[in-house]
Amino acid sequence: MSKISYKKLLLRKKNKEAITCLTAYSDPIAKILDGKVDLILIGDSVGTTIYGMSNTRSVNLEIMKNHAKAVTKSVKKSMTIVDMPYKTYRSKREALKNAIEILKFSKADFIKIETDRSNIEIVKYLTSKKIKIVSHIGVTPQKYSDFSKIKSVGKTDKEIENLLKLAIDLQEAGSKFIVLECITIFAAKKITKKLSIPTIGIGSSNYCDGQVLVIDDILNFSPDKRKPKFIKNYTNISINISKAIEEFVKDVKLKKFPSSKNSYS
Ligand code: KIV
Repeated sequence: MSKISYKKLLLRKKNKEAITCLTAYSDPIAKILDGKVDLILIGDSVGTTIYGMSNTRSVNLEIMKNHAKAVTKSVKKSMTIVDMPYKTYRSKREALKNAIEILKFSKADFIKIETDRSNIEIVKYLTSKKIKIVSHIGVTPQKYSDFSKIKSVGKTDKEIENLLKLAIDLQEAGSKFIVLECITIFAAKKITKKLSIPTIGIGSSNYCDGQVLVIDDILNFSPDKRKPKFIKNYTNISINISKAIEEFVKDVKLKKFPSSKNSYS
């Protein structure tokens, strides 16, 4: 199987075959995901999932570059998207410099930026420089220092109209995909119907052309963490990890590990 192309994903929008996307931050997870999902996102959610940060604002360019490289190194089939971290795309110049740096270093296919009306011109500018952009609208986590304050958007007519206009303008600015985060069913349906580029939803209903989730959430690495309702746990990996650790500790204490099989003579 060769690498999936953007053209093929555009056709999938027409044929209504949903596009799949999960995050990855490391080489082993990237290897498992490769070819199973269409898109792999090296999200700035790395800050909260891997580094224990309370939001994504402390994630910097170096963190994103290194995790992106770890992921893209072995990815042969899926397309890859890397997040531009907080305060790295405030002007056209800053955005271009940092986008080139991150893409050159990681060889990812797309960069994703959190967008609103204030940075449409930046999307247009980056596109004119041949940088492939994924825009992210609705709830944009870099705006929040406290994630418990996050609420869905697209409830009033005015909000829906603004989101729709923003999505259309971002498409015209050259975005290849638009991530819709925590947007109401009605608004997500309307936006998806209106656009010719695919929408990828997170907490935005199954009317989107595709879905993205954070891998740590579907695996349930942190069962104690309060999670938004759009997350579904597909397994409980923390139970398996705990079991393996308990067995290791027991074996070591009982001197069952290492056995002669694990030792050099
Ligand atoms: O950083 C991230 O993981 C994201 C989401 C869309 C999943 O931006």
